[in-house]
Amino acid sequence: MKDPKIIVALDFPDHDQAIEFSRKTSPDQCRLKVGKELFTSAGPALVEALVDSGYDVFLDLKFHDIPNTVKKAASAAAKLGVWMLNVHALGGSEMMRAAREGIEVIAHRPFLIAVTVLTSMSSRDLNEIGMEMPLPQLVDRLAQSSIDSGLDGVVCSAREAPALRASIGDAALLVTPGIRPEWAAADDQHRIVTPRQALANGASYLVIGRPITQHEDPAEALRLITQSIS
Ligand code: C5P
Repeated sequence: MKDPKIIVALDFPDHDQAIEFSRKTSPDQCRLKVGKELFTSAGPALVEALVDSGYDVFLDLKFHDIPNTVKKAASAAAKLGVWMLNVHALGGSEMMRAAREGIEVIAHRPFLIAVTVLTSMSSRDLNEIGMEMPLPQLVDRLAQSSIDSGLDGVVCSAREAPALRASIGDAALLVTPGIRPEWAAADDQHRIVTPRQALANGASYLVIGRPITQHEDPAEALRLITQSIS
């Protein structure tokens, strides 16, 4: 059984483009991430179709609501057969524990991870909403709280991975976006890390979108990246 480290971000606007992409690769080469745009346009039917074709699906909806609502949303996601889902750690430990309870509804529960602080937020943005703690400490505190609440890990930058590994341990999953092979454009990502470096930093899985999805030959892009980390 293969355990591909690459999670392709299926940032497509609709069902057909996502399915077309899924036919160019295979479940033993990559996992797939469905985010807010695609889920809002294509819905649970698309997730089920990808799961039925054998893919591990990371449902990236970043739930953040009252504990009871998040528990039910997490249950609904688990019942779709997803492999991984996430919540915002800023929802608090009670909400995260509720999410964990929510996914116990099926025999093989999905992985549950947390977003700590969105990487799009600067220290200034945090101050603006009344959060005075220095950003690295806030990330660390939220990551610890996620693990203490029974979550499997966090989404983080591969640059934060070594520090988080040290503070939340070897068993935690670190899922890292902002990955670019040397040959790819940075696009709008500012602090990029190569696939090989991200794994060396302690990442468990690499979320990669445009370098694969926008490549003229996605299967070849995936093969090159896989080769660079094997
Ligand atoms: O195309 P690209 O490789 O930049 O896609 C990265 C994916 O990871 C996108 O779906 C993006 O929304 C997501 N992501 C990110 N940075 C974060 C969290 C998620 O780029 N901090």
